Amino acid sequence: MLTRTYSASILGVDAFLVTVEAAVGLGIPGLTLVGRASGALVEARERVKSALAHCGHAIPPRKQVVNLAPADERKESPGIDLAVAAGLLAAHGVVPAERLGRELLLWGELALDGVVRPAVGTLVIGECARREGFRAIAVAEESAAEASLLPGIEVLPVRDLGQLVAHLRGEATIEAAPPRALDASAEPPPGELDMADVRGLVLARRAIEVMVAGGHNLLLHGPPGVGKTMLARRAAALFPPLDHESALEVTKIHGIVGGSRGGGGLVGRAPFRAPHHTVSVAGLLGGGSPLRPGEVSLAHHGLLFLDELPEFGRGCLEGLREPIEEGHVNLVRAQASLRLPARFQLMAAMNPCPCGYLGHPERSCVDSPAAVQRYQQRLSGPLLDRLDLVVPVAPTSPDELARRRPSEASSILRERIVRARDRQRRRLRGSPWRTNAEIPADGGTLDRLAPLDSEAERLLQALARRRCLSPRAQHRLRRVALTLRDLADDPGAPSSPLGAAAIAEAAHLRRLPEQAAS
Ligand SMILES: Nc1ncnc2c1ncn2[C@@H]1O[C@H](COP(=O)(O)OP(=O)(O)OP(=O)(O)O)[C@@H](O)[C@H]1O
Ligand SMILES: [Mg+2]
Repeated sequence: MLTRTYSASILGVDAFLVTVEAAVGLGIPGLTLVGRASGALVEARERVKSALAHCGHAIPPRKQVVNLAPADERKESPGIDLAVAAGLLAAHGVVPAERLGRELLLWGELALDGVVRPAVGTLVIGECARREGFRAIAVAEESAAEASLLPGIEVLPVRDLGQLVAHLRGEATIEAAPPRALDASAEPPPGELDMADVRGLVLARRAIEVMVAGGHNLLLHGPPGVGKTMLARRAAALFPPLDHESALEVTKIHGIVGGSRGGGGLVGRAPFRAPHHTVSVAGLLGGGSPLRPGEVSLAHHGLLFLDELPEFGRGCLEGLREPIEEGHVNLVRAQASLRLPARFQLMAAMNPCPCGYLGHPERSCVDSPAAVQRYQQRLSGPLLDRLDLVVPVAPTSPDELARRRPSEASSILRERIVRARDRQRRRLRGSPWRTNAEIPADGGTLDRLAPLDSEAERLLQALARRRCLSPRAQHRLRRVALTLRDLADDPGAPSSPLGAAAIAEAAHLRRLPEQAAS
């Protein structure tokens, strides 16, 4: 007898449907698994055999073949176990095959005693089931909360194989998990680091506010110990809560990599990722086998903080060019190329030279010009050209540091940021873009949404000539100017042209380290 059950396998940040065919026939007794199963899945044979025996349905000594289709895609996750076991049960006539048709997708790893364990990526699998037209998905009890975040699909929480058998035979019913409201908690957790602790550093604080408000990228450069890392660690809490769609996307990606085996709720806050500079190219951009999303995808809709930027490998730095510009990474694999989402905001910090003191008001730099040049050249022109905000961080004076009065708190900055984001949302309503940084320059969109008055036009041209700004850098300057206006108390009419003051401040917020200045 031949039966078909259904499961899915993860590829990148998506999943594809897997049809599990089970056939029982004459021949040398045994269980064979075919259809490009990965190592973890090949072991499914032993898990399934033991789980079936434990729930009282040991497979008889017959020839049994399980095929995972499509045969040309590699299946990675042990989440397919449950569908393999159910297929064999149906093939032996233990459960009615018609209850396992193209209505129910099965997703869970089996323990040797038949208990269903959660497998990573439940949300991605659930979405695949919904897309493929399944009515219900059976998952481990621990995964039910995560799966029930998806509207439009019934979620059956399965404790163990015995319970599934009883349900399929109609002897007992598994109650569907109630659909869950999207209760994304967006409030910063208590104990979150606050900008009120940072003394002075007015320019850098302003740059961070603009970065978060308009979705821009930022590089902070300055001597050691002046507060660059301190500022960056406080930036993530300034992000407004994620909208529902973004929250679901972020939860999906983190569900695959973060190993949240079911218990996790919706990720409602913008992610903050700060990989160490020794990260590999695959770790940063994604890759490996099985293919995993990298830090750029984990920072999707959030902040990617690269401290000590020039210390990152060349491959990593150059690999950032595509996602910064496009909002995704294309990973070319032997079989196919895969596109992973990576719309993050880059925040980076660096010293201006190897000793760290170039341009310091009191200390002198001990590096040779050639050493400074070599250090700064680790950041290529194309990478620097993609940064909207580049700001020097100077040491705070001892007087300022000793002052007891706290600086402006994160909560006040957040209010201004939320207001500026609201203004952008109104401007960009009906378009696929959410922030000023995403407005494309092509087709006159930027000209239409961020027109300049004649004085601003003249200033931009003068700046472009003096600083040799590329057309891309000029566009980025205009987008920053637009954000500066959105942050203003009285921004004027949304469609009125940008004035020279906004362009001048935007230029002030883009100053490359000494000697590397273009
Ligand atoms: N402006 C400031 N206000 C309050 N504390 C500060 C300030 N600047 C520096 N500090 C203190 O100095 C510590 C070191 O700062 P931080 O690690 O941010 O330096 P950095 O600029 O990243 O240096 P490096 O270039 O060596 O990485 C902070 O943890 C903080 O305690
Ligand atoms: Mg630092």
